[in-house]
Amino acid sequence: MFPWDHNAYYHRLLLRQLPEVCDRVLDVGCGSGTFAAKAAEHATHVDALDRDPRTIDRARRRVPNNVTCTVTDVLKSPPPPDTYDAVVAISALHHMDLTDALPVLSDALRPGGVLAALALPRQDLWREWPIELAATAAHHILGGFFLVRQSLGFRNPYATDPADDVMPVNLSPALTTREVAETAATVLPGARVRRLLFWRYLLTWRKPRQF
Ligand SMILES: C[S@@+](CC[C@H](N)C(=O)[O-])C[C@H]1O[C@@H](n2cnc3c(N)ncnc32)[C@H](O)[C@@H]1O
Repeated sequence: MFPWDHNAYYHRLLLRQLPEVCDRVLDVGCGSGTFAAKAAEHATHVDALDRDPRTIDRARRRVPNNVTCTVTDVLKSPPPPDTYDAVVAISALHHMDLTDALPVLSDALRPGGVLAALALPRQDLWREWPIELAATAAHHILGGFFLVRQSLGFRNPYATDPADDVMPVNLSPALTTREVAETAATVLPGARVRRLLFWRYLLTWRKPRQF
C-alpha cells in the first residue's frame, strides 16, 4: 500500500553531506543514475559505476554530460586512490562485505573528502522496535499524503520509478545498524553510523587531511 521510494526521500540528506567545494564525486552502485544526475548539479564531474550492465544502460540515458557511467564491480576493480571529494553509495553497501568495501571506498577519497553511504540494515526488532513502529506508521501516513497531493495534480518527488524494477536489490542485509557501527569503528575509525527512520542507516566518514 502507498509505495514510494525511500532512497529518493533521502537524496537531499545525502546531497547535504557533499563538501562545499566538490570537484569529483564517485557514486558506487549508481543503479539507473537518478542520484548521480542530482549530484552532478553540485560537482564538476561525477563517476557513476555499477556492476549491472542493464542499469548502467539506463543510467547513460538519464545523466547529464558531466557524469561518466561505467560497468564495474568496485570490489574487483577498485577506483584510483586519493581521487574524489566525495564517495556516495545509496542502497549498495549492504550488497557487499562491509570489511572489504570500506577500505576500497575510503582509499578513493582525497584527504578531507567525505564518504556518505545510505544502506539497508538487517532488522533488529529487539533494539529498534520503537523506530520500526514509527517507520511503518509514517510510511503509510506520508504515502497517503503523497497520493492525495498527486490526485490534486502535484508531482510526487518520491514516486517509485518503474524503470528501476530491473535493478538488483538485496532485501536481506547481513548486518544490523549496531553491527555496521561496530564493524565501521574497527575498519574505519571515526566513522559515524546512525539509523534513519525509513529502513536505512547513514554511514559518514571524513578522510583526515594527514592520512
Ligand atoms: C538497490 S540498487 C540501488 C541503486 C541506486 N544507488 C539507487 O539508489 O537507485 C543497488 C545497486 O548496487 C549495485 N552493486 C552492488 N554491489 C556492487 C559492487 N560490488 N560494485 C558495483 N555495483 C554494485 C547493484 O548492481 C545495484 O544496481
